[in-house]
Amino acid sequence: MQYFSMNSSPHFLLLSVTIIGLLGRSVCDEGFCSASSILNVESKPLYWKVTNPTLSPSHLQDLPGFTRSVYRSDHALITPESHVFSPLPDWINTLGAFLVTPAMGAHFVMYLGKMQENSKSSLPPNDVERFIFIVDGNVTLADAFGKSHKLTVDSYAYLPPNFKHSIECDGSTTLVIFERRYSFLENHVTEFIVGSTDKQPLLETPGEIFELRKLLPTSLPYDFNIHIMDFQPGEFLNVKEVHYNQHGLLLLEGQGIYRLGDSWYPVQTGDAIWMAPFVPQWYAALGKSRSRYLLYKDVNRNPL
Ligand SMILES: *[C@@H]1O[C@H](CO)[C@@H](O)[C@H](O)[C@H]1NC(C)=O
Repeated sequence: MQYFSMNSSPHFLLLSVTIIGLLGRSVCDEGFCSASSILNVESKPLYWKVTNPTLSPSHLQDLPGFTRSVYRSDHALITPESHVFSPLPDWINTLGAFLVTPAMGAHFVMYLGKMQENSKSSLPPNDVERFIFIVDGNVTLADAFGKSHKLTVDSYAYLPPNFKHSIECDGSTTLVIFERRYSFLENHVTEFIVGSTDKQPLLETPGEIFELRKLLPTSLPYDFNIHIMDFQPGEFLNVKEVHYNQHGLLLLEGQGIYRLGDSWYPVQTGDAIWMAPFVPQWYAALGKSRSRYLLYKDVNRNPL
């Protein structure tokens, strides 16, 4: 194309357009019409897109004003094109996008943290517990005992309320973080935990076929757990769940249909969901690869 602008001869231009037209046709004849090729675009008739709409999700995301994100009173779907990052208060060199907060009715926050070079966390407020999961990159976690832990993709840590720690990073790392005001129980305390998904055993899921791992102990001190749930394409939740627990979900892999209330949403990797108590919820995995999601769930406390 650079050649055109350097040569303004009308004859040359006419000849070139003709050649491009022929080229475009011969490429299509072989059944390899490439929509992204500049040559083909130039030879398309005016308005050709009206009869050749593109429905691929990646194209939809480029439409002005279009987003798959939805915010309702009992659920929200927050898709990557609508993430808004801003500096995390008190953290150093870290941007955050809050996906679930108490303003929606949740009793926890769920946010993405994007740590950059020489970045460092701050502590959560008093009596707030924290869970971090590495989605991309790696961090060094210094605990209250003076020990350092290298956390890479798929590993996580649980920081009990009022537990001194710092998360540092010298590359570029994305974390998903959950925080909640801890619901204290007499004679029970939670412990500092570092782990990785692949080290957690598969658990029984009676009546269901998805694979379940829990990242935290199921014992009484813990007032929430983080589940990792895997579905092969075509697998779905058997129980059409309606329950008192709240959820924050991040789809780590795959795509499918999430039902929330009376709406069915196509979802894909990177999508986040907020589910209020009692919203009817159901998932079916589609596509060609495994669906894996990470799910916050409050447990072990009397809802009264
Ligand atoms: C951790 O991140 C740094 C900086 O991005 C990178 O150079 C290093 O290879 C990573 N280490 C591991 C174990 O992934």
